[in-house]
Amino acid sequence: MALVNPLSFIQKAREKGVAIAAFNVHNLETIQAVAEGAAEERAPVIIQTTPGTLKHAGIEYIAACVKVASEKHDIPIALHVDHCPSFNTIVQCIRNGYTSVMIDGSRLPYEDNTALVKKVVELAHSVGIAVEGELGRIGGTEDDMSLDEREATFTVPEEARDFVEATGIDTLAVAIGTAHGVYKWEPRLDFRRLAEIRELVDVPLVLHGASGVDDESIKRAITGGICKINIATELKIPMAEAIQEVFRSRPDENDPRKYMGPAKEAVKEVVRNKIRLCGCSGLADELEGIR
Ligand code: 13P
Ligand code: ZN
Repeated sequence: MALVNPLSFIQKAREKGVAIAAFNVHNLETIQAVAEGAAEERAPVIIQTTPGTLKHAGIEYIAACVKVASEKHDIPIALHVDHCPSFNTIVQCIRNGYTSVMIDGSRLPYEDNTALVKKVVELAHSVGIAVEGELGRIGGTEDDMSLDEREATFTVPEEARDFVEATGIDTLAVAIGTAHGVYKWEPRLDFRRLAEIRELVDVPLVLHGASGVDDESIKRAITGGICKINIATELKIPMAEAIQEVFRSRPDENDPRKYMGPAKEAVKEVVRNKIRLCGCSGLADELEGIR
């Protein structure tokens, strides 16, 4: 099937009290691993790329590969650009068939962030594309962006309510104690803050920096209103480990299929486990309207 706007299945996940897993991909094998893993779980899935990945792989290549994956597998797949600070890149993504965009103005002062996000929403909604916004600043390292944990700021519930109303975004990424990349210490999620945000904000909420967060906290976050879970690092690490393992045992290996094959399988296994953790296995079969 063709790529879909993820709201079609995020809303369903919300009704059921489960979440959609969103995976950051970097190349052909990671796209295949996510699509195949999701198809085996019969789960709708969001495949996402940062602007850094678009620079590395080329937006046309990524969009073409994800479209092929979507045609090949009978599950709803959305293609999303993650943490995009640039209006122009968002336009490029939409032109290339992305069905969802995250405009990340979290580095900007509140007023400028709001104005930028509003402009993206006007464009995206005019062509049926979903928009994710972020309020508060998530620490750690994602793509070419790094934010020292001391500079990270949590989402203020009242500000979140005003931001959603002022911009018209479809989903909101909240900063409640997670961070991108590998945690330096055990993450502690602020569930009380999540509940306050949930109370005031009506759009589905998104959890970034989910790698390294224990399963119980992820489940509690989903119960507390998180409908989309972003996972990047927990795919990158097993992928790198699988490749390292091949070269440890066969240092002269030079056939890409022989080291990328195990890497793809390692990624796929994590994809399936995360989808199960999110509770959305089988959800693809409950979405007749969009299939
Ligand atoms: P992790 O790298 O911590 O999984 O974060 C993923 C993310 O938030 C992508 O936007
Ligand atoms: Zn993120």
